[in-house]
Order: sequence, then structure tokens, then C-alpha cells
Amino acid sequence: MLETPHATPSAPELDCFALAKQLSGLHFIGGRYVPALSGKNFAVVNPATGAEVAQAAEGDAADVDAAVRDAARAQKEWAKVPARKRGALVHQCAAVIREHQEELARLIALETGKALRTESRVEAGTVADILEFFGGLGSELKGESVPFAPNVLSVTVREPLGVVGAIIPWNVPMLLMTLKVAPALVAGNSVVVKSAEEAPLAVLRICELMNRVLPAGVFNMVSGMGPECGAPLVEHPLVRKVTFTGSVETGKIVAKAASQKLIPVTLELGGKSPMIVFQDCDFAKTVSGALTSMRFTRQGQSCTAASRIYVERPIFQQFVDEMKKAVDAMVMGDPLDEKTDIGTIISEGQFEKVQGFIDEGKKTAGATAHECSAMPKDSALKKGLFIRPVIFTGLDGNSRLVREEIFGPVTVIQPFDDAEKVLAEANDSEYGLAASLWTNNLKVGLDLAHRLEAGLVQINQNLVVQANLSYGGVKSSGLGKEASLEAMLEHFTHKKTIMVNMA
Ligand code: NAI
Ligand code: MG
Repeated sequence: MLETPHATPSAPELDCFALAKQLSGLHFIGGRYVPALSGKNFAVVNPATGAEVAQAAEGDAADVDAAVRDAARAQKEWAKVPARKRGALVHQCAAVIREHQEELARLIALETGKALRTESRVEAGTVADILEFFGGLGSELKGESVPFAPNVLSVTVREPLGVVGAIIPWNVPMLLMTLKVAPALVAGNSVVVKSAEEAPLAVLRICELMNRVLPAGVFNMVSGMGPECGAPLVEHPLVRKVTFTGSVETGKIVAKAASQKLIPVTLELGGKSPMIVFQDCDFAKTVSGALTSMRFTRQGQSCTAASRIYVERPIFQQFVDEMKKAVDAMVMGDPLDEKTDIGTIISEGQFEKVQGFIDEGKKTAGATAHECSAMPKDSALKKGLFIRPVIFTGLDGNSRLVREEIFGPVTVIQPFDDAEKVLAEANDSEYGLAASLWTNNLKVGLDLAHRLEAGLVQINQNLVVQANLSYGGVKSSGLGKEASLEAMLEHFTHKKTIMVNMA
């Protein structure tokens, strides 16, 4: 257990500051670390202090081309490896990740500001879990026999698509990347990942660790800016599939570019997830469930964050009071300190955006901003991008805070009187990613679950994405599913029909 912030642990690889420096200025292409062809780098900043911790390679179309060409060469051989063997190798990667779990957790905490104990360690563990899950699915890449005619053997086989381009965001980069890379690889594709500019280090380290097991070239990574490095990846003629997680705005740009090549895209975009609390809920469990649902330990930077909470009127005030008390008890501080529950916002840009929503809420007539928890006192953190969690009351469905994705530690609680009306309000959104219902009346719960417009509805819990559960939104929240067997089959293979006339 660390007593002082930023104390250097004994094992050298657990010194995330040193590791960040070592990973500076590098892509991972064709089985090795390489610098950007242009020689350009950009700064990676620790959002808890504002200090630069590393430089990342600033990739452009030339780096992307090198990575995609290597990936295309490697894919031809990789596709010949029996599916089950490919799975076994991906499974083996999980063991390597587990050995390095603490190192990855520290690295991601350093570059994203996500607290080590509550978030970063959990994320690193989930990476291994996802690799193990998909690693076991090689044998499921099977086809069908089709009853066409007595003397004609007609079968389908699952074939890989080729090179997959994966573009990832900064909020849970290791997990979201693995949801793409693991199924793509098991299905026989090769992958080029474009990391998020705010968080390129931990994913780069994962890429190198997995390359200790995988053949060179099947898993590559480039870092750089969206338009200069992400766009050329989508547009590259050898990229046959794009999978993207990020904002709706960028998702549309990616989908438009992919449509010009007529290649399939999977999009996991934002959300404005409702949490509906009935008075017959298990009260204490629901209050603590609201903290989890809002992803406060991730500073609310989650596409499934319960950023609009509807509470049945008789328990509304008590719910607000208890939730405020519970959030007050959470400790904001140095992400690397074991005592910290809540870390920082990722970047100055996001900080301004979130702060803008809070200021707007505060200015709205009739609204109350319940600011919770306390700012950290440590002077080393005075430039840190900390925002106190805010619970708003007195706002309604006309507010931008209830309609738009804030991606920060801000939630709006509104009272409701009628199940049908609250369902209509919940569905009155551009988004449809996730929703949760809290009630002991499962008849009502199941009925509403069927009628909520969302890809994932949970009753009396609100977990983050899990391996083996189909995950993905409707409406502006995205296209396609991730995390499940069906996601691997539908999004990373195509079905070929083969017919043999034996007459
Ligand atoms: P973004 O969607 O712009 O970035 C996501 C990824 O797309 C990054 O790797 C970025 O470099 C890349 N990208 C940007 N422009 C591109 C282009 N023209 N072509 C190809 N790739 C491109 O998201 P950003 O700017 O980081 O965050 C903005 C908002 O998006 C957040 O406030 C939040 O509301 C939402 N968001 C949603 C996420 C989710 O999990 N669904 C994750 C991150 C952000
Ligand atoms: Mg952007």
C-alpha cells in the first residue's frame, strides 16, 4: 500500500513514470517498436498534475500505410493458423497481461487520471478476462450445411475479413480496445489500432506484451491525432473493416468514409442512460447502485453513466439526501494513491466542456447544484483536472444537462409520479445505449425493460460491459454489438457459401 502519492514501488517496472518515458515516441508495427516516420511526437500529460509524462509518436498517413501493409502480409499467414490455435494464443496473451496487471494499472492511472484502486486495476483485470473469453471461442467459428439438393453438398464457412482498423477513445482504452482486438484476432483478422491521443501508453504496452505471444504483424498500433492518423486508417484501401468507439460526431465521419469503400463498420457511440427508481426498491442497494451507475469513480466519463435519474416522488427527497451523503464520502485525490476513490478529468478540453454544463445548470432558474465530495488538498495536485461530483435537482427534460452527453461527474435527479410518463421521458432521447430500473415489482420492471429503447437494460444492478453479454446501442448510440460470440461472428467474419455438385 502506498503511503505517499507517487512513491516509487520496489519493482522497477511498477514505476509508471519510468515506464511512460520508455514508451515515448513509439508505434508498434510488424512486431517491433518504431518511431513516427516524420520524427514528430506529441506530449502525454498526467491530468492530476499537468506535468508531461511522455511523448507519443505523432502518426500520419505514412505510418498508417506501413502498419496496414505489415498487417495485410501477416494476416495471410494468420488466417491459415487453425482457429482453435489462434484462440489458444489469444488466451495465452491473457496470462502475460495478468503478470503485468499492476504495471498496466499504474500506467493507465498515470495517463488518464483514473484512480488506481477503484478503476485502473479493475480495467487491467478485465482485459485479461476478455482475452480469455474470446480465446476460448476459436471452435465456434463454424458454418452450416444447407439442404439445397440431394446431390449437392452446400455448406457455409466463416472467413476473416482481412485487416481491421480499430479506433479507440481514452475513457477505458484498454478494455474497449480488447473488445475489438480479441474477437478480430481469434476470427483470423489482423488489426491496426489507432490509440486515443490522451491515453496512448497503456494500450501500447499491451500491444507489445501480446506481441510476445502473437506472430509479428497481426496486432499493430499507431498513435496520433484523429484527422491525421485515424482518418487515413479508415480510408486505407487494405483496411476491410472499421470498428470505432467514441463520439457520435466522429462516428458519423468514420461511417461516411467507410461507406465510400463499402466496408462494414461497428460504432459504439455515446449515451444518456436513464436510471428509473421506484419507491418499492431496496433503498440502500439502490443508492449505492446509483453511485456505480453514474460511474463516479470514473468521474462519470462513461457512455453508460446514469446521468439522468428519475425517482418516484415519495422517496425523491430522501434519495437525493442519501445519494449526496454517499458521494460526499468518496475521496477525490491522487489517482495513484490507494485511498483515492475519484481521480481527474482526462484533459483540459473535457474539463472545460464539463464545467460549461455545470455552469449552465447552476444558472438555470429553479435548479440546485449539490456539489459533493471535497477537492484534494495536496499542493502537488493544484493543477489537477479535478471536478467535484454534482447532483442537480430542479432541472427538467428541456435542459441540455438532461438531453446531452456530459461525460463528467454530473447527474440530474428528477421526481416522477407515473410509470408511463417516466418511460416516455426515458425514451425521449437521441441516445439508446443503456438503462436501469430499480424495483422489487419484477412485473413492472420486465414490462418497462421491454419497452425501453436501449441496447442494455438492467434491473436492480447497473454493471459495465461484460464479456459474453451482447453490448451496443440503438439510435445515435451506435451500430452493431460487441463483447459476445455473436459480435465476433457477425462483425469480424463473413459467411462464404461453398457448393459441390456430386451428381
Ligand atoms: P472522439 O470521438 O473525437 O475521439 C475518439 C477517437 O476517434 C480518438 O482516437 C480520436 O483520435 C479519433 N478520431 C477523431 N477524429 C477522427 C477522424 N476524423 N477520423 C478517424 N478517427 C478520428 O471523442 P473525443 O473528442 O475524445 O471526446 C468527445 C466526446 O465524445 C466526449 O465528451 C464524450 O461525450 C464522447 N465520447 C464517447 C465515448 C464512448 O465511450 N462512447 C468515448 C470518448 C468520448
Ligand atoms: Mg474529438
